[in-house]
Amino acid sequence: MRIIFDTDSAVFNDDAAALAMLLQRRDLVEILGVTVVAGNHTVPQGAEHMLHLLELTGADAVPLYLGADAPLVNTPARAARQEAQWGPITFKGAFDAGPEVLPPHGGRIAATRPRETTAVSFIIETIEKYPDEVTLVAVGPMTNLATAFRRRPDLAGRVKSLVFMGGNARVRGNVTPAAEFNIWFDPEAAAAVLTAPIPRIVMFGLDITNHAPIRKTQFDAIVAIDTPLTRLMRHDMGPRFERDPDATYYVWDCITAAWLIDPSVVTVSERLPIEVDTTFGPSYGGTRVSEEPQAEDRLVEVMLDLDIEKFYGMYEDLLTR
Ligand code: RIB
Ligand code: CA
Repeated sequence: MRIIFDTDSAVFNDDAAALAMLLQRRDLVEILGVTVVAGNHTVPQGAEHMLHLLELTGADAVPLYLGADAPLVNTPARAARQEAQWGPITFKGAFDAGPEVLPPHGGRIAATRPRETTAVSFIIETIEKYPDEVTLVAVGPMTNLATAFRRRPDLAGRVKSLVFMGGNARVRGNVTPAAEFNIWFDPEAAAAVLTAPIPRIVMFGLDITNHAPIRKTQFDAIVAIDTPLTRLMRHDMGPRFERDPDATYYVWDCITAAWLIDPSVVTVSERLPIEVDTTFGPSYGGTRVSEEPQAEDRLVEVMLDLDIEKFYGMYEDLLTR
């Protein structure tokens, strides 16, 4: 499977752990490139986290490309207006970040640097190079993908599939009652991508990712095995478990990675007409199952439940190798 890993990066918890899991199965998954988009972090900060991870796992030959540093329409000012009118947004990611770039764990900026090509150009060139073969794995806002397809609409039909973490079909959101973070950060991009003629779209929304949070039991089992990766995990995730042994971490993007490696981890899915709400209002960025689907509406494979023990087993195994 040839993939482009499109990520809003993060400390170890989620995007980085998902990439680490995939890097352990390079017999199954060929990572053609990592493309960074603004979301959890600004692009320069997110890139440093990912470059650090690539070096730590000996995968620094995997190229990394810098992508869109802002959503298509959403802005910090709009987010402030949304909050003032319709209530809190519990996480605003890069909208709350300053321009400074902090070195990742270890205090060192990675020696490997991003490639000169932009993420959008890389996505376009890669689909052209491998028509009908590329799986786009989107675990952040979809700004890079929307920009690529806006520039080259003909290429949406030439990817193999889009597998994304984001949205909420039948459960409430995680940043507002209506919306999940990745879609809320750039709803217009998500709406454009999810209506593009991509042959297969698979959604890992909160419906499934809510089911398998990581608790101290799994964390302790992993960090008991000392590797450079588990040291990073201990640094990034340990303090919260020290403060609160009952804490939970959602590892949204890791569930997407687990399915790419072993699809049998998902036990329930449905093909549903998914819509993104792009109206600036309390439900901005929410996703929902269309109540009046039209015959021509495209269906998204919405993943709904998983074999939790199998997932925990994969997570522990892949992150301690
Ligand atoms: O809502 C969860 C998603 O937002 C995850 O992809 C997380 O990494 C953040 O991007
Ligand atoms: Ca993410």
